[in-house]
Amino acid sequence: MPFTLPPLSRRGFLRGSFAAAAASCLGPLAVRGLHAASAQADPHRFALLSDTHIAADRSETARDTNMAANLEAVVRDVIARSERAGAVLVNGDCAFRDGQKGDYVVFTELLEPLRAAGMPVHLTMGNHDARENFREVVGEARLRPSLMADREVALVRGERAHWLLVDSSTQPMGAGRMGREQLELIARLLDENADRPVIVYGHHNPEDGMSKYPLEDTKEFFAVLAPRRQVKAYIFGHSHRWEIGRHGSGIHLVNLPPTAYVFTDGRPNGWVEAVVQADGLSLELHTLAKAHRQNGEKQRLRWRS
Ligand SMILES: [Fe+2]
Repeated sequence: MPFTLPPLSRRGFLRGSFAAAAASCLGPLAVRGLHAASAQADPHRFALLSDTHIAADRSETARDTNMAANLEAVVRDVIARSERAGAVLVNGDCAFRDGQKGDYVVFTELLEPLRAAGMPVHLTMGNHDARENFREVVGEARLRPSLMADREVALVRGERAHWLLVDSSTQPMGAGRMGREQLELIARLLDENADRPVIVYGHHNPEDGMSKYPLEDTKEFFAVLAPRRQVKAYIFGHSHRWEIGRHGSGIHLVNLPPTAYVFTDGRPNGWVEAVVQADGLSLELHTLAKAHRQNGEKQRLRWRS
């Protein structure tokens, strides 16, 4: 499981030690036992975050936004929900600009309350991340190695759907591209896990004619996803733009808002609460500015057959 930070034991949290966390390491399946112990946690409910852009200096700002304060507020909000998410998924651009080790130190510190509350955190890499630096900082907290040597690919198995975490980032600071080797792996993983719906989760947005740096091999990527009917949605970040769309194949396209800054004034930042249903996905937007007109906006996606 790449970059999955397991829930922290209370003791591990208090000691602030990732080594302690590793010793109490629980994968997503094992975590179900934890849900049973916590009446509030819902295994079908997920907190979806993206583009946190955390800097080593917590006071760093960009576009009049303090990114650390934003992530802190989102973390508080996720924990405060009366129906608590079973897991958290952060969809890349965890680091500020170029994936400095200090960025990841602060980033993982800011995530600690989630893990202390029993939620594993699954992460993908964005174009502003540096895999090797992250690996070094997170170290022993990783649950298992990636399914691919030079990318971070994972399958998080769920009761109603699997989450396939893919790595669209070529690094350092490269273009968004899955690449042939990963596409072959994605095809194989999908074929081997066709027993239930699959939600694909990766950083880059598909080519849509609007965003500047989309996934370069969008066509090849969807040539793998579209014929595999178990694929129901592709969820991404990168453009810092909350938006729902649909591919011609019927695959839902969900563009997550950033927890950090937006590129266009008035667009929402915050996080998305997702509940996997038997026949689709319910989404609710939680904006950082509680007075934002889109706060609480709900979407109900039905799976293609
Ligand atoms: Fe970003």
